[in-house]
Amino acid sequence: MASLEIVLGSIRLANPVIIASGILGTTAEGIKLLYDMGAGAVVTKTTTLKSKPGNPNPTVVSTPSGLLNSMGLPNPGIEEMSREVAAACSEGVPVIGSVAGSSINEFIEVAKRFEETGVVGVELNISCPHEKVGLIGQDCRLTYQVVKSVKDSIKTPVIVKLTPNVTDIVEIALEAEKAGADALTAINTVKGMAIDVNTGYPILGNRFGGLSGPAIKPIAVRCVYEIYESGVKIPIIGVGGISNWRDALEFFMAGASAIQIGTALMKGYQVIEKIKRGLIRYMKKNKLENLNQIIGLSHKRC
Ligand SMILES: Cc1cc2nc3c(=O)[nH]c(=O)nc-3n(C[C@H](O)[C@H](O)[C@H](O)COP(=O)(O)O)c2cc1C
Repeated sequence: MASLEIVLGSIRLANPVIIASGILGTTAEGIKLLYDMGAGAVVTKTTTLKSKPGNPNPTVVSTPSGLLNSMGLPNPGIEEMSREVAAACSEGVPVIGSVAGSSINEFIEVAKRFEETGVVGVELNISCPHEKVGLIGQDCRLTYQVVKSVKDSIKTPVIVKLTPNVTDIVEIALEAEKAGADALTAINTVKGMAIDVNTGYPILGNRFGGLSGPAIKPIAVRCVYEIYESGVKIPIIGVGGISNWRDALEFFMAGASAIQIGTALMKGYQVIEKIKRGLIRYMKKNKLENLNQIIGLSHKRC
């Protein structure tokens, strides 16, 4: 029997396909729907203490190589979000609360409020390329401080979402692990921009945005591979451009214990079941019983 069950530290999930933060996941109904469509867990939209309107429009532009967004973390604030998340958790949905803040105290406060709702974990967004929080994940000392402060304040597992917009993602990953992170998510979007050649103006209201979708998959796979190779002991969740089971498999072989999907959901939620079915088929064909037999496989080949 091929099983898709996975363990991320103390988080046990029926399958490894997690919904990435930001695309969906702001209402209880929406979160429950994604779970009913087969997701192993759902990460909420990144949430701050107070509501945030986000960046000026336009905030999304489609480019030939992927989607560029500069949403600016629009969210209703933790007060409203915690009501929605608590409702989803009470129906048995494994929810991961995505946390951001403008200070360490705000990170702690939002994480604590998520903990009260019954989430299975919190994911610290220190990596958004079009928001100040993204600067945290580019600095070892700040990463350590934020992760350690949240870890010291809650019992719920803490996942740290990393940015590829650094010279060396491994040193940030190791710092997050040293600060007590229970798992790492790699990667957030890749910083980019687009210019309207008729006017010369940058297209996004915020000028800079984050690229997502298939174009960033090789970058994300490389990041997961390098982090795994560095010898981190905590599990890695791979994300970036995954749209089918083969993409997912690449991430497992690079060293991911679970995966997240974001942009691919825009073509329909069926992608969740398609990825799961493809993985099961592959495992049966290769007489594999669980995903542990694939995780990090490509490291043994070199
Ligand atoms: C429209 C949009 C909004 C996003 N918002 C968030 C967010 O609120 N928090 C976060 O951590 N990542 C956010 N992301 C990044 C995704 O979670 C993911 O890391 C990234 O898009 C790469 O995965 P993908 O190629 O499967 O989309 C967002 C991405 C998109 C496209």
